[in-house]
Amino acid sequence: MNPDPHEPSHAYLKSVRITDVLRVEHILLRTIMAQVSDWLAASMPPETIRERVALLNVVLETHAQREEKRLFDTLRRRSDTALHLVDMMVVVHDEVRGLFEEIEAGAEPIERLWTILDLTETHFRREDKEVFPLAEELIEPEILIQLGTVGSL
Ligand SMILES: [Fe+2]
Ligand SMILES: [Fe+2]
Repeated sequence: MNPDPHEPSHAYLKSVRITDVLRVEHILLRTIMAQVSDWLAASMPPETIRERVALLNVVLETHAQREEKRLFDTLRRRSDTALHLVDMMVVVHDEVRGLFEEIEAGAEPIERLWTILDLTETHFRREDKEVFPLAEELIEPEILIQLGTVGSL
């Protein structure tokens, strides 16, 4: 069968590194986080905030899981520095998970949400500046591309 010349090939999708996927996700998530920050500043009713917290939880958790499964599992085996750095990043993922669980269990959401936004912004900066560059130094480009394109998560 001849390929249709009008059909986009999507070949570019085959050369996306996992680090680039995660960087783009950080940009998108920062937009959502800025929105949440505006909602909080606007003093919304706790019930409305609670509903939106559920959405923020899903998008942050999906990103954290992708990071852990598609990058950290490989990166942590590459050096002691990488292992230590990855462990520190997972501590923050777990801290954020714990705060979401507390909110879901009925704890006061606003203070915790500010903490989640604050922790996550600092965490993203550290990943952008330290973790992703280290991954690109220690993991072969073809493996980074494989991790960026294979699987559903
Ligand atoms: Fe992370
Ligand atoms: Fe991240």
